[in-house]
Amino acid sequence: MENRKVLVTGGNRGIGRGIAEGFLKNGNQVLATCRDASKFPYKNDKLTIAELDISDSKSIDNFKKIVEDFQPEILINNAGITKDNIFLRMSEVEWLDVINTNLNGTFRVTKLVARGMLKQKWGRIVNISSISGMMGNVGQANYSASKSGVDAFTRSLAKELGSRNITVNSVAPGFISTDMTENFISEDITKKIPLGRIGDIEDVVSLVLFVSSEDANYITGQTLVVDGGLFMK
Ligand code: NAI
Repeated sequence: MENRKVLVTGGNRGIGRGIAEGFLKNGNQVLATCRDASKFPYKNDKLTIAELDISDSKSIDNFKKIVEDFQPEILINNAGITKDNIFLRMSEVEWLDVINTNLNGTFRVTKLVARGMLKQKWGRIVNISSISGMMGNVGQANYSASKSGVDAFTRSLAKELGSRNITVNSVAPGFISTDMTENFISEDITKKIPLGRIGDIEDVVSLVLFVSSEDANYITGQTLVVDGGLFMK
């Protein structure tokens, strides 16, 4: 895969940065978004940076023209948040913030990109969900619901867009070592993972690159799990 135009949300750090850098390494053009463009941490000749808050419709409106000019062929909906709390203590704000970012944000960005892909009659949409959406997780009622929603969104969209040669898949990581999980990962969790280790960002990047490539032409509507075997269906 080379010379594709790729939009990665939350491309400044963690898994999103790994994905953006993976596409750049393979000779693609990347539009990476970040909530504060002045703090974007790396550069590349083929990289464009844009400011975007996916939880905010106004920010989405400002981003529209940038998307129209760039015309993404591949969209990676990576940006996401956690606001963990046990259910009885979970506030409505914690619930709404996570749903609004992870699920509604994915809807908003996809909406900006899908029409252009339909015209091009080629596209790849990869939504980063989570095994939390499949197996549930204590303290993550909001996050699990948002990610399960993303998987369901993926399936419906795959059915709507398939005839135009656009594939839509979710990539569901298990525990990956990033800022998001730094306070979460314990020896107890590692013991439950058959492969005996927490995942690296690269473990997710290689799957995202594969499912975005021509080699994955006949895969759509799937949730592809990358978790060292932690959750087996
Ligand atoms: P991270 O916290 O390091 O990065 C999250 C990214 O999303 C950051 O770039 C942040 O700026 C961006 N973001 C958050 N809210 C945003 C908003 N309203 N508008 C625009 N950008 C926003 O987290 P990490 O671990 O890299 O997570 C990336 C994705 O992978 C998320 O969707 C997360 O839910 C998912 N994931 C991560 C797992 C892990 O173990 N780290 C496991 C399963 C899924």
